[in-house]
Amino acid sequence: MAKAPAKKDSAAPVATPKPSAASKKAASSNGQASSNGHATPSVQPVLNQQFDAPAPLQKYGTVSQRLPIGLDTKARQQSVNNLNQLLADTITLRDLYKKHHWQVVGPTFYQLHLLYDKHYEEQSGLVDTIAERIQILGGVAVAMAHDVAELTSIPRPPRDREEAPVQVSRLLEAHQIILKNCHDYAKQADESGDDGTNDVVVSDVMRTNELQVWFVSEHVVDSPLVRAE
Ligand SMILES: [Fe+2]
Repeated sequence: MAKAPAKKDSAAPVATPKPSAASKKAASSNGQASSNGHATPSVQPVLNQQFDAPAPLQKYGTVSQRLPIGLDTKARQQSVNNLNQLLADTITLRDLYKKHHWQVVGPTFYQLHLLYDKHYEEQSGLVDTIAERIQILGGVAVAMAHDVAELTSIPRPPRDREEAPVQVSRLLEAHQIILKNCHDYAKQADESGDDGTNDVVVSDVMRTNELQVWFVSEHVVDSPLVRAE
């Protein structure tokens, strides 16, 4: 069932600069009369509306039944909660790949530099797939860095440049956190009848992460470079 629209939170910080009376007047003006007597429509954009915004269209954490996709609220809510966790972790892993793409050093620089960017692009695709699934389910997808940082369960790496094997270990740890959750979330979606979410979690997120684990893991096998031992 759809939730009632949220009322404006009286405890929320009051946004300060409001549009001046002059700017409001300019924005609402229908324009000026031209030499031929016809009114010229105004092309002034209505700016600064975020400072006096009404209540949000939908609160984060809620789900609506807006789209008729044959799922009850309980199933949608469970999937949205799980997918937002998966989204925050995937955004974090995506950005970890870009950090390492920039900062990698050593004899495997070129191949890791390219591989990291390839995986970054693939994780970016997953981010969009997960976020859009959340919206289809009637939820609100987490998006901004501050919120992602609060929600993710992937440990924060230092800002410093690290050695390639350390980078690889961090990436594998992040992949494993995501993959463990995928198994859990896929099972829950299956049991609640949310087959679409089950498919996204297994076919898209799980398969991509498993493949990336393979490509990254093989870089930390201590294998002789020239002469077999
Ligand atoms: Fe680049």
